[in-house]
Amino acid sequence: MTYARIEIAPSILAADFSRLGDEVRAVEAGGADVVHVDVMDGHFVPNFSLGIPVVESLSKATRLPLDVHLMIEHPEEYVADFIRAGASRVLVQQEATVHLDRALALIREHGAQAGAVINPATPIMLLTEVLGKVDTVLVMSVNPGFGGQKFIPGSLEKIRQLNQSRARYNASFRIAVDGGVDLENAADLIQAGANELIAGTAIFHTPDPAEAVRQMRKIATEALSQKV
Ligand code: DX5
Ligand code: ZN
Repeated sequence: MTYARIEIAPSILAADFSRLGDEVRAVEAGGADVVHVDVMDGHFVPNFSLGIPVVESLSKATRLPLDVHLMIEHPEEYVADFIRAGASRVLVQQEATVHLDRALALIREHGAQAGAVINPATPIMLLTEVLGKVDTVLVMSVNPGFGGQKFIPGSLEKIRQLNQSRARYNASFRIAVDGGVDLENAADLIQAGANELIAGTAIFHTPDPAEAVRQMRKIATEALSQKV
């Protein structure tokens, strides 16, 4: 399966939380495809962010699907609650559960798309058994927990390898990348095989987030047309 359209997913971790509704409507107007929502529990990552009530409010504030990235321990215990709150896609970290297969099945049973996420130190080989059962594989290109970090270059090679295994197994998962994504590296990421660009700082820490989405879309679309 090929993804003709690149998805641009603004990560609201970098948004102004006191104006969250306006921030999300701005990126929606700029043509964002999905809103990326980072959930952190202070255990799996050394930071807190937001939880179920915020997801519920966001789902009322936008028509865009919500990509809920769970950086929490025991994600399977909360999957149903996040989907009830309005998550269209739930992404769980491979490192956060010994029951990854169960967590992914649970997400699908509750009617959402299921994604598996790997940290920079986790080899993609650890996802081999679930590649046929996921809608998304998300490559973390920073160590999760904070926005505004520097892109880890080795992530590009992981995306290339995932792209190859997708072809080899005739699998249809989308490849997403999260962390340090910006207008500079977007083209390389698309060339490597990424289908979804998740970006916080590069979109919300600009004077015009809608325009930042448009620029990222332009770069991604050009890179896709040049892709061999
Ligand atoms: C990091 C989060 C990212 C974060 C990316 O733990 O998963 O979604 O918002 O932020 P930037 O784009 O600023 O690196
Ligand atoms: Zn994220």
